Amino acid sequence: MTDDLPSVAVQDASTPLCAVEEVPDGKALAVSALFDGEEASLLLLRRGDEVRAFLNVCPHAGRQLDWAPGEFLFSSAKLVCAAHGATFSVPDGLCVAGPCRGESLREVPVDIRSGAVFLQPS
Ligand code: FES
Repeated sequence: MTDDLPSVAVQDASTPLCAVEEVPDGKALAVSALFDGEEASLLLLRRGDEVRAFLNVCPHAGRQLDWAPGEFLFSSAKLVCAAHGATFSVPDGLCVAGPCRGESLREVPVDIRSGAVFLQPS
């Protein structure tokens, strides 16, 4: 479900997903955007000036990683899937512990321009 996300749905690559500063450093922000022609929940991870985006879909069993829309669990500076505890490093989205260890979140290419995060044009 992406309807309850707190942010504005982005329809194209010319509209920013968010400002870099809206993504808490070392944490995550969920946004809703059109990706491959469909509305998708995206998960943005930030470490300092680096922001990377991923589909909010866990590689273990395909569940969203947040326990409530836009609310993510963290443990020891790592993102923890709310479903079965797969643990992902930030900001590269690599699973380092749990049932899908060694797999990665599916990355969505983004650009950082003028302090904002944009989807790369497809
Ligand atoms: S769906 Fe994420 S750990 Fe199972």
